Amino acid sequence: MSKKIAVIPGDGTGPELINEGVKVLRAAEDSTKNLSLDLEEFPFGADHYLETDELVTEEDLERIGKNDAIYLGALGDPRVEAGVLEKGILLKIRFYFDQYINLRPIKLYPNVSCPLAGKGPEDIDFYVVRENTEDFYAGIGGRLNEGKNEQELTLSRSLYESKFDLDVDVEGDELAYQIGVVSKKGTERAVRFAFELAEDKGHERVTSVDKANVLSDCYGLWREVFEEVSEDYPGMETEFSYVDAINMWLVKQPEYYQTIVTPNMFGDIITDLGAMIQGGLGLAPGGNINPNGVSMFEPIHGSAPKHAGKNKADPIATILAGKMMLNQLGEEKAADKIEKAVEEVLREGEVRTYDLNGDSTTSEVGDAVAEKVREI
Ligand code: IPM
Ligand code: MN
Repeated sequence: MSKKIAVIPGDGTGPELINEGVKVLRAAEDSTKNLSLDLEEFPFGADHYLETDELVTEEDLERIGKNDAIYLGALGDPRVEAGVLEKGILLKIRFYFDQYINLRPIKLYPNVSCPLAGKGPEDIDFYVVRENTEDFYAGIGGRLNEGKNEQELTLSRSLYESKFDLDVDVEGDELAYQIGVVSKKGTERAVRFAFELAEDKGHERVTSVDKANVLSDCYGLWREVFEEVSEDYPGMETEFSYVDAINMWLVKQPEYYQTIVTPNMFGDIITDLGAMIQGGLGLAPGGNINPNGVSMFEPIHGSAPKHAGKNKADPIATILAGKMMLNQLGEEKAADKIEKAVEEVLREGEVRTYDLNGDSTTSEVGDAVAEKVREI
């Protein structure tokens, strides 16, 4: 049966990168028995918003939801106020489809230079499991003027509904606040996913990252749940690390890490560091996963508008996001082929974009990977 994919090229370099990603998926399809991909493109992004005043509507989401997965380029455009497209489309889709895991493999491929002295591919190969629906991404906060303020904030998730009725009296200044929400069930499912992944990958250790020494309500609950879940995995070593400390350790000793699980915002932050130690943002893919629903795959980098239309940006992160999508769809063979092809092209080092000190174009890299996929 064919797999239906909603393709959202998006903004900036998104369309040209997705083009290469699709080229490679097509090569995998042609060379894999019984794999058939049915792609439907959606226009969401800055142009669509500026033309129609719409980000993504309820009907759009229903249409996207008829697919087996979503393949996203990137969102963000200087013509639109920062955050509008990111929150209105990217986060909207993550929350709507309850993609509660953001899975980000940090892997250094051969012949890719690493900014950490003396570290090679054998040292950098771990996973970050980022909770993807809660924490400071809950989208609830506000501005408070001097005097009396009444605010009603609601947070609606598949696991729970909550309403905060705030009555705040402010003297002496104007304030702003943002509420971070961590739920027991939300944490449980993310942590369990991490332990299952760790078992599946043959890891010995799961590291939980938080800031429970200061944000002790939110991350105190996170820790409690982590400990509870860990009891179901008695063979697995566990540890807690504060987010500031792990930034240091990821630079000093990346080889120590195997599976890391962390709340949303810290996951966002440490995976940009992760991307750098795997050779740069041009190589780092991610998957927004709902194991029982519609998942979305994208490079972790943004839309890089200054490179848009120049056939310059590195398509490998987007290509590897396509590979992760095939994994999620149970197409392991085709996924493996794509990864091997990327690895080969990187190892040979002939065809690479400027970020890896090469002079090849976006489409030349896509062509080279697609050709390898067909050869494997
Ligand atoms: C990412 C991005 C997004 C995030 C932004 C664009 C909303 O930085 O996917 O890491 O913060 O999750
Ligand atoms: Mn980010």
